[in-house]
Amino acid sequence: MVRARWALVALCLLVSAACGSEGYDKGEDKIAGFNVLIAARQGSRGQAAPHRVRRQGDVPDTADVYWLHVDSRVTSRFATVTVESKLANRADRGREAVFTMQLPEAAFISNFSMVINDTLYVGSVMERGAAREAYDAAVEAGESAGHVAQELSPRGREVFQIAINVGAEEKVTFQLTYQEFLVRRLGIYEHVISIRPAQIIPNMRISVDLREPQGFSFLRVPDIRTSDLLTDQSTDELSTAAVSRVSPEHYTVIYAPSEQEQTAMSAEGIMGDFVVQYDVIRQEQIGFIQVYGDYFVHYFAPTGLPVMPKSVIFVIDVSGSMGGDKIRQTKEAMAVILDELRGLDFFNIVTFSDRTTRWRPELQVANQANVKGADTYVNNMIATGGTNINDAIIEASALLDQVLRHDSRASMIVLLTDGQPTIGVTNTNQIIANARDHLAGNPALFCLGFGYDVSFEFLERLALQNGGFARRIYTGTDGELQLTSFFDEVAKPLMIDVNLGYGQGGSSAPQVADVTQTAFSNYFNGSEVVVTVRFPGAPPSNFHVTVTGKGAQDALSLVEDFQLASLAAPEGFVERLWAYLTIKDLLKKERTATEEEQQSRLKERALNMSLEYNFVTPLTSMVVLQNDRQTQSADRASGDDAGLRYYVKTSSYSGASSVRSWPFWLVASAVVLALLPT
Ligand SMILES: *[C@@H]1O[C@H](CO)[C@@H](O)[C@H](O)[C@H]1NC(C)=O
Ligand SMILES: *[C@@H]1O[C@H](CO)[C@@H](O)[C@H](O)[C@H]1NC(C)=O
Ligand SMILES: *[C@@H]1O[C@H](CO)[C@@H](O)[C@H](O)[C@H]1NC(C)=O
Ligand SMILES: *[C@@H]1O[C@H](CO)[C@@H](O)[C@H](O)[C@H]1NC(C)=O
Repeated sequence: MVRARWALVALCLLVSAACGSEGYDKGEDKIAGFNVLIAARQGSRGQAAPHRVRRQGDVPDTADVYWLHVDSRVTSRFATVTVESKLANRADRGREAVFTMQLPEAAFISNFSMVINDTLYVGSVMERGAAREAYDAAVEAGESAGHVAQELSPRGREVFQIAINVGAEEKVTFQLTYQEFLVRRLGIYEHVISIRPAQIIPNMRISVDLREPQGFSFLRVPDIRTSDLLTDQSTDELSTAAVSRVSPEHYTVIYAPSEQEQTAMSAEGIMGDFVVQYDVIRQEQIGFIQVYGDYFVHYFAPTGLPVMPKSVIFVIDVSGSMGGDKIRQTKEAMAVILDELRGLDFFNIVTFSDRTTRWRPELQVANQANVKGADTYVNNMIATGGTNINDAIIEASALLDQVLRHDSRASMIVLLTDGQPTIGVTNTNQIIANARDHLAGNPALFCLGFGYDVSFEFLERLALQNGGFARRIYTGTDGELQLTSFFDEVAKPLMIDVNLGYGQGGSSAPQVADVTQTAFSNYFNGSEVVVTVRFPGAPPSNFHVTVTGKGAQDALSLVEDFQLASLAAPEGFVERLWAYLTIKDLLKKERTATEEEQQSRLKERALNMSLEYNFVTPLTSMVVLQNDRQTQSADRASGDDAGLRYYVKTSSYSGASSVRSWPFWLVASAVVLALLPT
């Protein structure tokens, strides 16, 4: 029985509405720039109360945080983080209770709830459009709504913020849960938890429980990171964190800074990231497999393989907008990168603005003389003119064509640009199609988007369709370091044309359903390939895993039969991990699909799974409804001054004028609607 109307409070939280024009929900262009949509409370006398939105610069009068507890459980790199905060308003007037959390960009919110004066509100995930309709209905029922709040957000993170007006002596508890799969980079898994309460908290506790059945090769807790700049990162250990080794496969980390310790950090307490870094021990070249029920996950990161020589073309944007810091940092970074090329590598440089220019007519071996020559060439780059990305890619592809056929090297193009295509072919779909035709799956294309004027979505599509990935390079004093550390990740290919296959009892025919990506153009040292699979029926008692690819010397082929019983995972996390990685995989495939029909099928499956597993993804929103059994709070809601006036603010890390340029998986959205009784 729904004895309620939507009208009283509606709030809509669009965690980055980046789904903008090129991506999801084409109809929602207009709200793409919104971080906040608010329908204010309709008072019991039928009057719409003015909605409250804090604007930048307002000094908030906020309630005190009693406690902040972060509880993270990491099982085989899959982290489930629950953040709970209790606030109390001890003043004799209404104040705001603000809950803010920065989420890693790869995370999916999986639950949100609040307890306001003993009433529990629990979130459930709805399809974006449906949530939006519910919100609109609330607005129509008498709300005034709508506010744009764009906030510059930190690098690679989203800001989730909700603020609730609480009456005198009232308490409110927020609980947010998100899940994130930790991706291995340069031999490290890094678990980052944002701690930015903006006040000193009497009771603060971060506890991280890590279980890696392969065993830890190392684990460290560096100092709280208060700056995003790579140049500012301390390598010291956080001495006040208690790290315990329960067993070789199980560690716990507890960090409970006292009020004094918080004050010592800053007047606002701790404002930074709590970080745990680790890696695991790898024994089997074919990798590690965990099975639970119908699901399994395969982690593949062979060690000890020799590094393959590579052919790399650096494609560098020297259009006018690259002038100043960007070109200077690019030059500095290129000096380091060129220096790090290995003796057997071949390379060339293509610079482009209106037109494209090759450094040398052909690829050059990376000997000292050539590296020196390239250095000089790079140093003389001058930023001027437009941006002809299309021709630059075709030029790079032509250079590689000269060698590809008789080449056993890993070949790649690294494209660095800071802007939209403005010269030559400027239609991004056309550029993507041209790149696909010319590159035809080899070489891999990596795109680096420098600054905020790039269409990151375009670069991402471009890279993903050609076996690479895209990375954003943030403007800042550490631009050079971001560039070189990206290059470190791809500098050591160990395998190319990697294919993973799963069969049953000796047959190599795939007998699994719902398998995530199994073909990869490169495997780089320090990274990891992860595949999740669902068996269509009852899982077989044994199955057959094959991994093939090309290595430095010759073809590689790993084959092994596994007894399922021996691989049982200790917990049921495998299914959720499967769902999480499958949704990411579907969204990625949707990005690279060339047919509309296929796109919408992939999207529908991703949506279905987001709903089934309660994940806030680019396709879903979170809706908070009042618990049905607690409708006796009607009295409370009818008083005008009582409790519930909300606003919600979220933002994405862009701050750019072009919302479209955000990475697709940053696009998350949540709608919070409080369904109050009449
Ligand atoms: C979400 O959190 C609430 C409150 O803690 C809890 O009752 C509920 O079971 C959770 N839902 C899910 C899907 O985990
Ligand atoms: C590969 O990476 C690991 C750790 O990430 C490192 O210890 C090793 O030296 C690297 N191998 C080579 C050949 O550089
Ligand atoms: C998604 O769910 C709907 C409703 O349950 C179902 O009809 C549809 O076939 C599903 N689509 C896919 C692609 O799984
Ligand atoms: C919350 O609880 C306090 C103390 O029980 C009460 O005085 C106050 O009116 C309640 N507020 C609402 C909105 O119900």
